[in-house]
Formats: sequence, structure tokens, C-alpha cells
Amino acid sequence: MNPITRRDAVAATLGGAIVLTNCGKPQTAENGKMPTDAQDTHSFSQPEKIRVRKLALDLAVSFDDKTLAGTAVLQFDAATGKDALVLDTRDLDISKIETSADGSTFSEAKWSVGQRDAILGAALTVTIPASTQFVRIAYKSQPAASGLQWLTPAQTAGKKHPFLFSQNESIHARSWIPIQDSPGVRIAYTARIRAPKGLLVLMSAEHKGASATAKEGVFDFAMDTPIPAYLIALAVGDLQFAEVGPRTGVYAEPPLLAKSAREFEDMEKMVTAAESLYGLPFGGMENPRLTFATPTILAGDKSLVGLVSHELAHSWSGNLVTNATWSDFWLNEGFTTYIENRIQEAVYGRDQAVMEQVLARRGLDKELSETPKPDQMLHIDLKGRDPDEGTTGIPYNKGALMLHQMEQVFGRETFDAYLKAYFDHFAFQSITTSTMLDYLFRELLEKHPEQAKQIPVQDWVYEPGLPVSAPKAASPRLEAVSKAAAAFAAGSTPASSIDTKQWSTQEWLEFLQALPPLKAAQMAELDKAYRLTQSGNSEVLDQWLKMAIPADYAAVNPRLEAFLLEVGRQKFIRPLYTELMKTPAGQKRAKAIYAKARPGYHPIAQTSVDKIVKSAN
Ligand code: BES
Ligand code: ZN
Repeated sequence: MNPITRRDAVAATLGGAIVLTNCGKPQTAENGKMPTDAQDTHSFSQPEKIRVRKLALDLAVSFDDKTLAGTAVLQFDAATGKDALVLDTRDLDISKIETSADGSTFSEAKWSVGQRDAILGAALTVTIPASTQFVRIAYKSQPAASGLQWLTPAQTAGKKHPFLFSQNESIHARSWIPIQDSPGVRIAYTARIRAPKGLLVLMSAEHKGASATAKEGVFDFAMDTPIPAYLIALAVGDLQFAEVGPRTGVYAEPPLLAKSAREFEDMEKMVTAAESLYGLPFGGMENPRLTFATPTILAGDKSLVGLVSHELAHSWSGNLVTNATWSDFWLNEGFTTYIENRIQEAVYGRDQAVMEQVLARRGLDKELSETPKPDQMLHIDLKGRDPDEGTTGIPYNKGALMLHQMEQVFGRETFDAYLKAYFDHFAFQSITTSTMLDYLFRELLEKHPEQAKQIPVQDWVYEPGLPVSAPKAASPRLEAVSKAAAAFAAGSTPASSIDTKQWSTQEWLEFLQALPPLKAAQMAELDKAYRLTQSGNSEVLDQWLKMAIPADYAAVNPRLEAFLLEVGRQKFIRPLYTELMKTPAGQKRAKAIYAKARPGYHPIAQTSVDKIVKSAN
């Protein structure tokens, strides 16, 4: 079992919701090029036959039924009459499908839904007459749609209104939109969303205007720059906006708004830092304009805002240059993790960036030691598997480490220029690992053959583990902390005499992770000195709870239960349930807590925690 899964941060989670916005600049058009080796095994659609270019959604949000209901109009290049349009769906209730040549006169079409695959959902095949360019599908999503989380008022920070948000990556768009759900297919979209009066609707698109009827608010959106389906996003709730900078702001539920605006006040600086690294090759940056973030990063001291730098970095690696298939996921996440660290360095200084590298490396070493060999490669085989299974920390941290090595070997100036040119060259395209490597050889390695010998590219990408030459960051601040941990563990320093006053989140994490397995009495001593069980910092608390379970330190029990009930972020809850399931007594507790917590979790988290908590049966 991998202790770290990374797939939930772009979503607001339980206990309140925050949505960050990067209002973006004018967009430019894509060039639609696609390499031919980009076989996506996670989509039924056959874009090489008919490629969808535009989507127009018109959907009503019903919190009573937990459905989105309405129509999707898909536009594609004129069909020859021989082709069928194949779309991805998962559990959609389709009532009618029509086709049209001009987008205004529609006539009923022949269509069928194939057999349902547990991972992929079902193919929807529509017969398309010659010269047809539009298809209109009337449908409804299911209450259990895997890409939507419906929160009751009790699950929100404000407690008064319900909340809905989508999470499409990796292949969940198909659970609420019939679409070519492959990262190799980019589409522009418009949407008209109707929601109960008083709620605000947000999408990863430009907001074009709002109106209202007696019962409903009606919101219009347009995303003119073609994006992959996994970047379409929707949030509906009692949200308010606070400006952070000229191009940045935050949407949050009213009780979280002031705290969020404070925590993220450096967002404009992050955007500036990111831009000065990679430039704005198109006079604007491709960006779905709306990052979703979990409230568990509101630590009160900005120590966890690296996540914002991370999501911002995706404006280049991911949204501008996209992985063509989910086996190429490291092109999105490894590059992004590297750029995240560069933004952190620019905004918070080298010390902070290096501490984050050191912690990432410890996590990576641990994860590699627990992961089957084939899944340790950067380019991984996901055939027949749910692509969400590829979302371990390995593509993130091993990928980033490879880029750190290239930066060190070629020098920052050369490597920055290379990356900038890379983003320029592949802008608005979805590319495979081999396309990226061709470019790397041509534009960097072959130009600096002596230095290139120091980069074992093949080992990085296609071998398990890490090359022996993988760089290892060192942080004097963290080294001092791990000495303090060793002294405490050896019994030579009492907890109360460790000087923790200046410690940041990263130093606390280092301290706890550097400790050997503790006895309950040692945990009690630390708790007495530092009130760790009461920590309001989600990362520190999570680390503490993970240690308390095997130590049988029962004083954390109420806090552990409350945390599992309040937080839905998989990165935290999965390792905690896994730890509990290791003993018979823990299994009993895990089951009792999970029975209460499960209804409040996102469908994706439900599926993955089901496997953990049931595995002992
Ligand atoms: N794009 C990912 C989230 C994702 C990955 C969703 C795969 C579904 C499938 C996002 O950018 C991300 O990486 N989030 C991280 C936070 C980050 C700071 C490492 C997370 O959720 O922990
Ligand atoms: Zn990411």
C-alpha cells in the first residue's frame, strides 16, 4: 500500500471549502498537434476518427436529487458519414441524442451504450450522418457520480448551505459529462449552469455573466482555450470572493474567507516568480483560472502554501504542456513538483526550498521501499488498471529529482532556458514521455555531450529505484532537528528542554519523522511539552497520529476520530486507516470510525478506503 496518494488537493474537502483563482490573462489558441504514439488505454473514444473540438453544457444543479441534468452539445470536424462518434461515459442516464449539421436544427440519432467496465465506464457510440458537425445529448448524472462530491450543509464551514464540487482527474469527467475523456484531446467549452438561488457557481473558465429567475441563479462561462477534460471543473456553494492581488484572489465560504485571504496573500508573488522563470510565451498563460484547494493547508503561518505554488506551476506543466496518457503522468507532476520548489525558493528563500526537498526525499525513499518495482518507474504501465493507482508520490518526487539533477549538471541558466523553450515548443499540446525525451536529447543533451554523460536518463525513466547519482539535498536546519530527535530518543534530552520555539512545520515534521518508534510514555512526554495532539497544523497532526497508533498512545483517540470525521483528504486518511488495520483492536476502531465517516467522504476516497478497511475481512 502506498502511504501517500496525491489526488485530492485540487478539491475542496470536508469542513469547508476554498477555491483559489488566478484570473489569468487573455488566452491564445492551440495548434491541435498530436503525436501518433499517444495510445490512451483509458479512453474508449477514437479521436483519430472524429475529434471533438467544442463542448457546450447546459446543466441544472439539483441538491435534492444530487444530479446534474440537462444537455451537452459536442462540436467536431465535419464527419464523412462513415464514422461513429465514440464518447466516454460512466453511469450517465441518457434520455435522448440528436445530431445536426448547423448546430440549430437537430434530428434524432441512433446510439448505443456498450458494456460497463469497472474502471473505464462505458463507451457511448453515436451514428453520425455525413457532414454532421454537432451532437446533442440529453442526460442526467447519478447521485454517486465518481467525479462529484455533494456536501450536506452540516459538512460545510457555514453549516447553512449545501456544496458541490467536481474532481475530474484522472478519468472522472465521464461521470458527469459524455466526452472524449483523454488528456490527449483538448476542447474549448461553454457552460450555462442553473443552481438554487443564493449559491455561487464557479467553473475553470471565464465567467461571462449571471442572471436569475424566481428560483434559480443562472451562470454563463466560456473557456476559449482548448483544455483536456480532466481540467473542466465546477463548484457550487455559499462562496464569496476576496481579492489577493491584481490577478489573484480566493473564493471561500464566508467563515473561511478572511483566514484564506491572509494565508494566501503571497499568491501574486508566486505568480510573478513563476512568470519570470518561464515567461509568457503567448502573451498570456493557459490556465483554467480556478485552483481548488483543501482547507487543510490553512496552517495559520503560510507553511503549507507550497500547494498553491504547485497548482500554479501546473499552468505550465500540465495545463499548457499536458501528459498525453496517464502513463506519462510524471510529465505533469514531476515537472510541476520541480517548478513548485523553484517558486517556493523565489518567494520564501533557499532554506525553505531545501527543507522541502529534504522532506520530499525522505518520503520518496520510504515510498520506493514499499512500492512494487514496475510502479517505481517514471513511465509506468497502467493497462487494465485505474489510472488513479499511478498517483503515488513517485512521479512527483522522483520526476522532480531528475530535473534537479539536470539543473545541477547543466547549471541553472542553461536549464531554465531549456525548460522555457520546452514549454514554448510544446505549448497547447499533449505529449508522451518519448516525445519529451526526443526533445531533451536534441535540445539539451546533444548540445552538451560531456555534461550529458552525468544524466542516466534511461535509469531515471525506465528503471525502478533511483540512480546512484541522484542528488541529495542537505539542510543544516533539519540536520540540527534530527540531532535533537536522536538525543530525545536516546533519553539524553528531556522533551521540555528541546529548543523548538523557532521551528517551522518542516522542522516539526523532520523531528517527528527522525524519531524511532516511540513508547506511549515518550509520546506523553512530548505531548505534555508541545500539545501535539491539539495541533491545528494538519501535516504535523497527521504525522503525530500516524506514530501514536503503533505506540498505543490512547490519549490521541478522540482527536484521531475527530480528524478522520472532519478531513477527507486521502493523503491523510489512507495512511491512518492503514495503520489502524494492522492490529485486531485497531481494526475494530477503524471499522467503527469509518462507518460514521464514510458517507461524508468523496466517492474517490470511499472507493480507496473501502479497500483498506475491508482488506482484513
Ligand atoms: N493534479 C493533482 C491532483 C490529482 C492527481 C488529481 C491525480 C487526480 C489524479 C494536483 O496538482 C496535486 O498534485 N495535488 C497534490 C498536492 C501537491 C502539493 C503535491 C495533492 O493532492 O496532495
Ligand atoms: Zn500536481
